[in-house]
Amino acid sequence: MSARPSAVTYDADTGVLLLDTPRTSYSAYVGRADDIPVHTYWGPPITAEDAAYLATTTAARLASEWECFRSAANRHEEYPLDGGLQFGRAALSVEFPGSVRSIEWRLARHEITAGPGHQELALWFEARHQELTVALYYRVHDDSDVIDRWVVVRNDSTTDAVDVHRLDSAAWVTPEQPRHRMTHLTGRWAAETQVRRTDLADGHLVLESRRGITGHHANPWFAIDDGTATEESGRVYSATLHWSGSWRMLAQRELDEPAQVLFGWGHEGFGPRRLEPGEMLKTPISSGLFTAGGFGAMSHAWHEYALRHVLPNSGELRPVLFNSWEATGFDVDEVGQRALARQAADLGCELFVLDDGWFGRRSGDRAGLGDWWVNTDRFPGGLKPLIDEVHALGMGFGLWIEPEMVNPDSDLYRAHPEWTYHYAGREPHTMRHQLVLNLARTDVAEWVFGELDALLSANDIQFVKWDMNRPFTDAGWPEQPDRQGRLWLDHVTGVYGVIDALRRKHPGVAFEACSGGGGRVDFGIMARTDQFWPSDNTDALDRRYIQHGFSHLYPVRTMSCWVTDLPTFINKRRVPLTYRFHVAMAGVLGIGGDLNAWTAEETQEARRLIAQYKEIRHIVQHGRLHRLGEPGRSASAVQYVTADRKESVVLVYQEAQQYDGNPAPIRLRGLAPGGRYRVDGGPVLSDAVLSGALLLGHGITPQLTGDYASTLIRLELLD
Ligand code: DGJ
Repeated sequence: MSARPSAVTYDADTGVLLLDTPRTSYSAYVGRADDIPVHTYWGPPITAEDAAYLATTTAARLASEWECFRSAANRHEEYPLDGGLQFGRAALSVEFPGSVRSIEWRLARHEITAGPGHQELALWFEARHQELTVALYYRVHDDSDVIDRWVVVRNDSTTDAVDVHRLDSAAWVTPEQPRHRMTHLTGRWAAETQVRRTDLADGHLVLESRRGITGHHANPWFAIDDGTATEESGRVYSATLHWSGSWRMLAQRELDEPAQVLFGWGHEGFGPRRLEPGEMLKTPISSGLFTAGGFGAMSHAWHEYALRHVLPNSGELRPVLFNSWEATGFDVDEVGQRALARQAADLGCELFVLDDGWFGRRSGDRAGLGDWWVNTDRFPGGLKPLIDEVHALGMGFGLWIEPEMVNPDSDLYRAHPEWTYHYAGREPHTMRHQLVLNLARTDVAEWVFGELDALLSANDIQFVKWDMNRPFTDAGWPEQPDRQGRLWLDHVTGVYGVIDALRRKHPGVAFEACSGGGGRVDFGIMARTDQFWPSDNTDALDRRYIQHGFSHLYPVRTMSCWVTDLPTFINKRRVPLTYRFHVAMAGVLGIGGDLNAWTAEETQEARRLIAQYKEIRHIVQHGRLHRLGEPGRSASAVQYVTADRKESVVLVYQEAQQYDGNPAPIRLRGLAPGGRYRVDGGPVLSDAVLSGALLLGHGITPQLTGDYASTLIRLELLD
């Protein structure tokens, strides 16, 4: 299917809306009698005549249904409101004076605007009986099939505040089909982004974070298919939310109706968020995507969108880093870190990251958070001597911080206990002995910015690991009882504001998003950071599952992966060094082990593999990822192919040998069928020249024997 220009059209006479992306169309109409926007289509390209036909037939069909007991548009709504003839869950629920909650639409105007590479449509509605304006926004891109949606709501009253109980970014309607199978990412700490599939029942399915962060337990993304899609085929509808705090995804279905998925910030019951007279509120973006080539094509489209429209500096090659956490824990000092830095540089690392323990009175997790001054017992000359040595060794320097937190045992807390979330007269609950700072307060956010700005101004730092190690509890703001409902939103925008300001002032500093591993992995934080720490679990086998799920939405270029020591702290497993490297080389390679304890053989092997990674990382970090099978099933692989199909890397893994012999051939993807490739991957595949047709149609037979066996295969197009 050839790509075509993206376009946005709205016919004011018929109320028909049509969004065209290079390979998809999306259409809806605004009801002529009730102004309810109704979804009609999302799929392969259609014409304006098709969209008009769909509007007429959908309206006629909805009108012909027995009207008692059902909603006016019955799960076909583009954005269901609370009230009127609506009986499903609402995307927008506002409480007006007198406890009135019902809103009815009146379309006021539409607006189409174009910017470089994109076009936007805004449908502006007024509430028929209240002073409230709501705009539904749509954006299409010239180079992506992803559609961005968001909503703006304005309280037009000059006298009365209203309470917003729910304000979703979008409702995504997927077609009526016998099955609605939802793929989503579940997890927990140290077990993030696990792929799950479940059929939607008639009723509701809610995935959400109630924790103030994106969360380890669910990631804000879903994909719906009819139960038949595979990695390589099938129609898949997916969507995500660009937001790093609490969120809710609610899928609702009624018998024989489409699935309608509401997606937005704030967990159920987070609010209300008071909207003052004249105040306007804009939701985060929810992006949706239709793809016809299975889960593989879906991931390619998301990755390309993320690299083109979300991730800053996405064209960079990320350096190989060393991180001190698993090597030295809280026991960091200048002498020890300088020794590690020398060893890391000798291995070929390019960035040395000093993790937790360098500040305040931090000798464990009970004290120090909030006191962002260098601990001079541990670093007598400040950080400068270490940074200078790291730079002299040819590496960049990175530093760990956890700016949203405070330990009760800290100078900051003793001075400002009121800066934390708490309820008046009650002891707040600590987790990991720490409390969350109220970054919804502008004075606290300004203080955090000041501390970090001073740190980055005083030290020559190239990388910041921004951590966040506990969810919200006791989410009170006693001095501002009217603002309690908004802290769930304003904390996140406070964090965004601090990072954005730091990036503007210190453009040479890259940021890693971390929240006890992958507790804050989403497109909202991706827009202002350079990579993610996907999990604290560095066990290579567990990590394969985590990386497999992560790759469904997030590009490899953002996935930081470390090689660490044995046994892994998480599950005491022991797997060979080469397998550990091959798993970490599937993303942005890092080293997190205690290099003092590595044997000469391990050091030599690590040096070789790091050098090899540098040769292939442009393919891994910037190529197209193909998932060849799933972890844990006999042999499986991940393959990366450059855009010109000239180079490819395949990392093949066998977790457990079953019976005798080698694994079956693995069919490759994405290569030029008519090309000839030089294949280099170990003794049997050394310098073989094979046709693209054979590699795609029959595959390669990896020579793997035993448990935790792995190999790296390189392919280069000869002609
Ligand atoms: C949690 C992070 O995920 C770890 O990598 C490490 O930075 C610790 N916090 C430090 O406290």
